[in-house]
Amino acid sequence: MKIGVLTGGGDCPGLNAVIRAVVKASSLKYGWDVIGVEDGFTGLMTSVRVREMTPKSVCGILPTGGTILGTASDINPMKVKQFIDGKEQIVDLSRLIVKNANGLGLSSLICIGGDGTLRIANHFYLLGLPVIGIPKTIDNDILETDSTFGFHTAVNTATEALDKLHTTAESHRRVIVVEVMGRYAGWIALEAGISGGANVILIPEIPFQIEAVCKKIMNRYEHGAGFSIVVVAEGARPVGGEMSVIKRTEDGSVLRLGGIGNKVGEEIAARTNVDVRVTVLGHIQRGGSPVPFDRSLATRFGVAACDLAAKQQFGQMVCLKGGEIQSVSLQDATRGLKFVSTEGNEVKSAEALGVSFGR
Ligand code: F6P
Repeated sequence: MKIGVLTGGGDCPGLNAVIRAVVKASSLKYGWDVIGVEDGFTGLMTSVRVREMTPKSVCGILPTGGTILGTASDINPMKVKQFIDGKEQIVDLSRLIVKNANGLGLSSLICIGGDGTLRIANHFYLLGLPVIGIPKTIDNDILETDSTFGFHTAVNTATEALDKLHTTAESHRRVIVVEVMGRYAGWIALEAGISGGANVILIPEIPFQIEAVCKKIMNRYEHGAGFSIVVVAEGARPVGGEMSVIKRTEDGSVLRLGGIGNKVGEEIAARTNVDVRVTVLGHIQRGGSPVPFDRSLATRFGVAACDLAAKQQFGQMVCLKGGEIQSVSLQDATRGLKFVSTEGNEVKSAEALGVSFGR
């Protein structure tokens, strides 16, 4: 048996841990050969870019950030820009990818990715490739799994930043607005906000009223705590307003977000008499060494994906449910996104301590 593995979409801590697990389990548990596909599905396009992987080639990568295979975000194999006869055209390279994967003699293809990559993986499963999915993303927004790896490391990074910002905010009696990642789901803002003792948490699931945010801040000034920490997910938006989109694709879907932290900071400064600073954490949240939880989850996911390959259970995604590793169909896992429950335990617990969600 020959198994292929690729990483697609934005990187996250734990990708190398999962690659290592796939390679070692394939080789040591099953005696299979492993082929690493470079830069996500682009490694199976016009020029095939693959490499042989052995336990030796993954030695030492468990604690490292990034992905040794490389990745590609914003690439949709069904809509690839190509110049044909000097003219730019959008072409569907799906059939070519299927042909190339079959040409490599892959008995299964393990696709590690977020919602976009997993949706593409399901597309290839439906076209006949023996695909198995592994969910990754710092955003933790994949359906049918309690957690994705990468998320806990990002929360750790954001929480450490909040701890540091707390002391300087307090020293200067300032409001510090911290923009974190989270396009449509506010998991990082919520968990880091709770863990880092934020006073205001703004998430995409709860459109905020700036008046409520300012009321909370002024209330803290009036009652002694002369500083505030406001955590804003990049996808947060005011009631009746829009997300802060920097770039869209040609068909209008959101490509890049950014700027809501500054907008919230400016609004607070304009409506209160308070000194405000804004920090955008950005891609710092995507890098660094994975925390133990992410290393362990990535390892368990990698082994479970090989076990699915051994049983020829294709079109499935490994997942975590109640502490156990299970699997679900890629179809079910990609029918939407996993959002924060606006009345769930996390939000309610934070509100019980006086945290404002701007509502
Ligand atoms: O999907 C993970 C994510 O970190 C999002 O939260 C963020 O919007 C996006 O990636 C940024 O992607 P890029 O690396 O393309 O800027």
